[in-house]
Amino acid sequence: MSEFDIARARAETRGCARVAHLNNAGSSLTPAPVADYLRTYLDEEEMLGGYEVAARRDGDLENFYTATARLLNASSDEIAFIENATRAWDMAFYAIPFEPGDRILTAMAEYSSNMIAYIQRAKATGVTIEIVPNDASGQLDVAALEAMIDDRVKLIAITHVPTGGGLVNPAEEIGRVARKHDILYLLDACQSVGQMPVDVEAIGCDMLSATGRKYLRGPRGTGFLYVRRNRIEMLEPPFLDLFSAELVATDRYVVRSDARKFENWERYFAGQAALGHAIDYALDWDIDAIWDRVKDLGEILRASLAALPGVEVTDEGKVRCGIVTFRKQDETATSIKARLAEHGINVSTSSASGTLPSFQARGIDEVVRASVHYYNTEDEIAALVEVLR
Ligand SMILES: Cc1ncc(COP(=O)(O)O)c(C=O)c1O
Repeated sequence: MSEFDIARARAETRGCARVAHLNNAGSSLTPAPVADYLRTYLDEEEMLGGYEVAARRDGDLENFYTATARLLNASSDEIAFIENATRAWDMAFYAIPFEPGDRILTAMAEYSSNMIAYIQRAKATGVTIEIVPNDASGQLDVAALEAMIDDRVKLIAITHVPTGGGLVNPAEEIGRVARKHDILYLLDACQSVGQMPVDVEAIGCDMLSATGRKYLRGPRGTGFLYVRRNRIEMLEPPFLDLFSAELVATDRYVVRSDARKFENWERYFAGQAALGHAIDYALDWDIDAIWDRVKDLGEILRASLAALPGVEVTDEGKVRCGIVTFRKQDETATSIKARLAEHGINVSTSSASGTLPSFQARGIDEVVRASVHYYNTEDEIAALVEVLR
């Protein structure tokens, strides 16, 4: 196990005293400095007024953009604050000018909200949706992707880490195909950002969406969108308001030229500032160190579960992350979750409805999802395994 100041991580995570939180893919425990910051901001809003605090805290609100840009190796003008990953993804996706006959290539492990959006767009524009098969390891087959490319492929849209499994799709290799053929590349990085290095230059994606509350440990109701500088102009946001555009005449508006054109005027200001704080906090831990620890804990949990009679670990892929999924003979995922909760252990369940093609292909209805973060311990993993035994 890599060197990690686990005592400090736990001391700064007050919830560790109450629960063994293995539901980080749902929503992580917020670190004390971030929770305290958020409370202070809200207290100031109560005492001073929301607009007045936003003016006083302008530097903190701006810090969200610089911190996110640093996290992703992007520029701050390529970042938009959006209330969750789904809406961030939507703002990019629905901005793409599809024409009849255009093709979207996506993955087996695609998040269902994205699939729903593809189908809706297909009905409206005549774009077609095709699912790239997996390779034998269960990750997206990059050679198959390349073989499917022709000049009608308008978009490659991939979920980096699915909601219901430990798989890490090969985002960089996919990016090389997208770049080679100059195809728009949208990455759903909701579960990967914060648990592993996500570098938009190395990956080569044009758009990327993520959420605040999961592996970044920020507040609920926060998220962001990254859009590559040279793609911002070609994408007309599906919704505009007087922040994203300026009304310059009674029949004309001018859209902003940076990624903030995808934002709303009204938003969760305290959350935006606190998410910037959470990202600084994560960067201070060092994302490479976080990834080493999360991967190690994930493998320890998988190995312990696989050794239990009647338990099957259902994670796929060559690279596997901190999300660990499994099922057990003769006990439903819902019952296991409830039984673990009685012992102060938080997990969640994932069903086929979250990632339909992947679950259907494997004949899986529901699994238990135990997702570790760096502040979890081997003792917590042992406690979970003991309850299952
Ligand atoms: C892969 C993936 N994409 C998108 C989302 C949606 O994120 P949000 O709830 O922030 O909209 C999730 C949430 O679980 C997810 O796992």
